[in-house]
Amino acid sequence: MLISQQMNDRLNDQINFEQYSSHTYLAMSAAFEKMGLKVFADYYRKHADEEREHAMKMFDYVVDAGGTVVIKAIDEPKGDWNSVEKIVQQTLEHEILVTKRINDLVELAEQEKDYATRSFLQWYVDEQVEEVSTAEQLLTLVKMAGDNILYLEHRISQMA
Ligand code: FEO
Repeated sequence: MLISQQMNDRLNDQINFEQYSSHTYLAMSAAFEKMGLKVFADYYRKHADEEREHAMKMFDYVVDAGGTVVIKAIDEPKGDWNSVEKIVQQTLEHEILVTKRINDLVELAEQEKDYATRSFLQWYVDEQVEEVSTAEQLLTLVKMAGDNILYLEHRISQMA
């Protein structure tokens, strides 16, 4: 096996967290559907699909590295599903947390001189720059738009 047992366990935790991210964005998509905000709902549904891809990319890496993938229960998403601004704020906080988790994995890979995993994780490091930046832009737009939800839907459709 190319990776340590500790790295294998931590990658499995992150696979679970990416699945949890997917679950969370799907719950947010459902909330937007309920509000009648179709563009937002589609945007978050697509984001949920992307999070699943992040999980599967890590799944494949663990397999390629000769490790063991363990699929665990996914926590129920929690949040205030009645406010556009609170959902987008939660998105930003969530992506900052993901970034911290990826950085912690990078730190472990470097401590273990596990350069294969370090190289693999660079894709996630780069992805998180975009994820946090997009969430920040979205939050700025939501705050600027106030009650002008249709303007917001138009802008989101341009970002998607
Ligand atoms: Fe997979 Fe949005 O981080």
